[in-house]
Amino acid sequence: MLSYLRERFVNEIKMSGISDQKILEAFKIIPREIFTEREYPLDIIYSDTVIATSSTEKTYTTSSQPSLMALFMEWGKLSEGMKVLEIGSGTGYNACVMSRVVGEKGLVVGIECNEHFCQLAIKNAKLLQLENVKFVCGDGVSGFDDLAPYDVVIVTLGVDFVPVTWIKQLKNNGTIVAPINLYLTSRQPAFVFSKTDRTVTADYKLETRFIKAEGSLGDLNWRNTARLQKILDRFEERKTMWVRAHFTECLNVAQICTWNMCNYQGNVYGVEEFGYTLWKNKCAFYGDTPLFDSFLELWKKTGHASLPTLRIMYNHDMKLTNMTRRG
Ligand SMILES: C[S@@+](CC[C@H](N)C(=O)[O-])C[C@H]1O[C@@H](n2cnc3c(N)ncnc32)[C@H](O)[C@@H]1O
Repeated sequence: MLSYLRERFVNEIKMSGISDQKILEAFKIIPREIFTEREYPLDIIYSDTVIATSSTEKTYTTSSQPSLMALFMEWGKLSEGMKVLEIGSGTGYNACVMSRVVGEKGLVVGIECNEHFCQLAIKNAKLLQLENVKFVCGDGVSGFDDLAPYDVVIVTLGVDFVPVTWIKQLKNNGTIVAPINLYLTSRQPAFVFSKTDRTVTADYKLETRFIKAEGSLGDLNWRNTARLQKILDRFEERKTMWVRAHFTECLNVAQICTWNMCNYQGNVYGVEEFGYTLWKNKCAFYGDTPLFDSFLELWKKTGHASLPTLRIMYNHDMKLTNMTRRG
């Protein structure tokens, strides 16, 4: 019965377009049932669906949709011998699957902010006698410097931004796969961020739905609002610009390009050190807004391309440097 369910499970993952045999094999080997404290019938556990695995008084965790995790692994080009950092490892299922993909010579490090979930992950890895997976309890924003550099960072929660610590802990030619909280329009698209010598390039992949990050990885709106409150009345209006036709997409693209948007009292702002931009189907600029000026100029050159058709480039400090339309 169990082997039939596992076979069917792997077929389901395969049907969503996963062809990497090593990944499929790993999903077949790792027993998903040991990663959940909640009881489910085995045919639910072995289906391509999200399951809530554990909870504490204040929070809960889930094992993400297996075919989506398999896609993240393919986008990260996981292969034997790689060192992988997972942010938001929950009770450890995905990290343990990845540990089979990278094999004995590879390593997976999972970071989980909730002590209870992290302890369950440690226990599960021990039970399966997996020696190439390590779980750390802490805030994923800091990554895990002790075992850096990593070939891939897999993020299994929605984050407001990609912290510079992850870029620093990533090898050149390494990849970060991360769902980004576009909270201004309640979307959570996944992006692949690729690091080269001087640049980080972001490419849109698909829409997802994950648990949102706790801590600073999930408080960009609040942080930018706090900055905005300090400067709100200090600057005269400088100019206005009409963006009505592509207003919503402009907000999404602006957020991922500048990381400094916030939603305050029903209005959307872009906050800079000596100025801000107010977005109300037109943008009004107050004070100095070099980041937004350059963002709008670069975006215009792409013909106001939407997120799925854009390639966004940053420096290693995750500051916008360029944008092009994907061919
Ligand atoms: C969708 S679950 C991850 C599922 C997990 N990868 C698995 O295979 O079961 C997201 C996890 O991210 C954790 N989390 C939320 N904010 C975090 C943060 N700032 N740092 C680390 N983990 C965080 C949550 O506690 C939750 O367990």
